[in-house]
Amino acid sequence: MSAFILDKLLEIGEKNAYPLHMPGHKRNMRFMPYDFRTMDVTETGETDNLHDPKDIIAKSQEAMAELLGADESFYMVNGGSGANIAAVLGCCKPGDTVLVSSGCHKSIYSALILSGVKPVYISPQMTEESLCASISIRDMFRAFDEYDIKAMIVTSPTYEGFTSDIKTIADIVHKHSSILIVDECHGSHFVFSDTFPRPALSQGADIVINSWHKTLPCLNQAAVLSVKSERVDRERIRQAVSMINTTSPSYPIMASIDYARHTLTTDKNLFTAYIRTLKEARSELAHCKVLKLVNDSIKGQGDIFDIDISRFTIMVRADLTGNDLAKILLEKYNIQIELAGAHHIVALSSVADDPRGIKKFVKAIRDIDKKLERKYIDKLPLDMKPVRRCVMTPSDVFYAEKETIDLSESEGRIPAGIIMPYPPGIPIVALGERITAADIEKIGILERYGINIAGIENNKIAVVKENEA
Ligand SMILES: Cc1ncc(COP(=O)(O)O)c(C=O)c1O
Repeated sequence: MSAFILDKLLEIGEKNAYPLHMPGHKRNMRFMPYDFRTMDVTETGETDNLHDPKDIIAKSQEAMAELLGADESFYMVNGGSGANIAAVLGCCKPGDTVLVSSGCHKSIYSALILSGVKPVYISPQMTEESLCASISIRDMFRAFDEYDIKAMIVTSPTYEGFTSDIKTIADIVHKHSSILIVDECHGSHFVFSDTFPRPALSQGADIVINSWHKTLPCLNQAAVLSVKSERVDRERIRQAVSMINTTSPSYPIMASIDYARHTLTTDKNLFTAYIRTLKEARSELAHCKVLKLVNDSIKGQGDIFDIDISRFTIMVRADLTGNDLAKILLEKYNIQIELAGAHHIVALSSVADDPRGIKKFVKAIRDIDKKLERKYIDKLPLDMKPVRRCVMTPSDVFYAEKETIDLSESEGRIPAGIIMPYPPGIPIVALGERITAADIEKIGILERYGINIAGIENNKIAVVKENEA
């Protein structure tokens, strides 16, 4: 018998590939100087209680709220996923209408199921090279005119580091006495420098979710839910947070958030030096001819408002997929990146990166670039869908009986899950929508492009049984 997980992790540790991925501590002792094993404790008289904080956890959460400019911040030890669910449960009740980008993270779909709300979907737009961009503000106006919306959920930034115009969105949402929840899981570092996009909480969002572990030096699962609003019932949020957090919260995770907050607020030079490294790396990468670093010039495409310069989103405009490039980076240069798509890669940096690690990445990309020839990428045939209400609530879909049928016979049926090509991560059919003949045609075209489509396997699709729909 092997210790399967441990053995693999030891093997990976031995290879010691440079980590341009989460979590943001990057195994850097400067930011993880303690042996967290000794801190894996439980609630004793001395360690406070996450579910009724009065002492060290309360003080730490208050300091966090002050840093973020929140009325109140809550630690979540189940990542941004748990925090997204708590936010929706805390703001909405069954039957409420929620406006949501269909390209949201799966935890938002879980929240839609658990809360029993009726989503109205708004499709995110695409960039010219088929990356998931922002929602359209024009579509948003249309949705608020047509539906009585209790809350809106926006993902900003996206995985690729694109933000939406949160200030304008917040103004529209508040004019309709609605609540704005922003999934800012990938933007927890924004608060530490004006060089990054403005944090959503400073732009009028009522609730913001930050996965501190993604881009800051924290242990996996470290997340924060913050409220800055008179429109939100704080007691219900508190209850929802408590429902989602385990009753055995990890003190190492909480201590890592607390220590990151403390270190990064006391030593301002850390971000100054990091931003210098980022700017140097980006100007070097700008010399590449084929591998194209996504930069400021993408602003405005698909209503993209701003970009996060800590994220190296690189278009692979060659006879090579993003996955091929990721493989070369790992096998030839011992660099592990975060994400690879058909035509792009995303490498994630953080303040805990060793500047030599980032330089090594830049050199590798420039090396590879020299050997490539330019190829043009077609825009995917994924026209946007109009704003639309689900025909069955995600909750009803979840509880309904299902059957598996041929994709060719699925017109008019409601899929058991989301039908989504990745990239760009924009669903063709969101949860609770009916599949149309045009959707089936689109799936066929995308499959011919070699794009994997979640929810379809060997031309079969699981759908809600007809008597249930
Ligand atoms: C946009 C977005 N929101 C939320 C999450 C979930 O965050 P976590 O991994 O901290 O649970 C993710 C995870 O990748 C994400 O990409």
